[in-house]
Amino acid sequence: VRAESTDTKRVLLAAPRGYCAGVDRAVITVEKALDLYGPPVYVRKEIVHNKHVVTTLEKRGAIFVDETQEVPEGATVIFSAHGVAPVVHDEAAALSLKTIDATCPLVTKVHREAKRFASDDFDILLIGHEGHEEVVGTSGEAPEHITLVESPDHVDEVTVRDPEKVVWLSQTTLSVDETMETVRRLREKFPKLQDPPSDDICYATQNRQLAVKQMAPDTDLMIVVGSRNSSNSVRLVEVAVEHGARAGYLVDYADEIDEAWLEGVSTVGVTSGASVPEVLVRDVLSYLAERGYEDVKPIVAAEESLLFSLPNELRRDLKAKN
Ligand code: F3S
Repeated sequence: VRAESTDTKRVLLAAPRGYCAGVDRAVITVEKALDLYGPPVYVRKEIVHNKHVVTTLEKRGAIFVDETQEVPEGATVIFSAHGVAPVVHDEAAALSLKTIDATCPLVTKVHREAKRFASDDFDILLIGHEGHEEVVGTSGEAPEHITLVESPDHVDEVTVRDPEKVVWLSQTTLSVDETMETVRRLREKFPKLQDPPSDDICYATQNRQLAVKQMAPDTDLMIVVGSRNSSNSVRLVEVAVEHGARAGYLVDYADEIDEAWLEGVSTVGVTSGASVPEVLVRDVLSYLAERGYEDVKPIVAAEESLLFSLPNELRRDLKAKN
């Protein structure tokens, strides 16, 4: 039996949300490596940018390090979903580490594009966020050919050697609209600018933004579950507010929700970044249900069915064991 006061309260739940194929693969890689080799298994950087995932794997015996040099000689190290620069492979070889590369295949695709355009002597304008691990990794493929462009406002400062031979590439987890604006301005400046052979912003980033855009105009408050260092999660909050949500917040856990956010709110939008386990979204839905937001309506913007196979090194070892 519902109280009348709940009648106007509802939740719009985005789909797709949460885990993408690359995150799923990376997390399973660490879990299987722990089962197979036994702890500790070292992971260079956060395997995916989610606090809960990292803490859970730590409890199972994963040791997260920032630099390859922190891994003891001869140990097993997993490279994160965001990818690494070639120099990191060299560092690992120098320490005789056993490496398992959990780089998302869609990030690897951008690395390949960077290598190819660099070998054709193009200037590559990489749209992305300075210091983000993916950008550090991609830039490392061809540092002398790559210039980072952080936003439309940075286009004025960009210079190239030959405006006839310029291509743009991007980080996989950016805002689609802002990236297109950056490209528009770059093309004003360099009319011969080439597009990447296929979208660098990945399907998961695009679909999660699409769902948020559909929900945002009807949403008083958007709650995005995700960590602060998760690029695609942060973008979801921005996209929500740009497309009409009256407010938007990023939370790692339901207990970070401030009761005051719900004042006068009838429709709450809920979604989660590509590195977020569904259990955390369930907790947010329970929190909201306890406060009268029991009516949950899914907003389905796309269907996803992509799956990636595990890294070859790991598959080989799994096979050898069975
Ligand atoms: Fe890969 Fe996109 Fe996920 S690049 S790790 S599928 S957010």
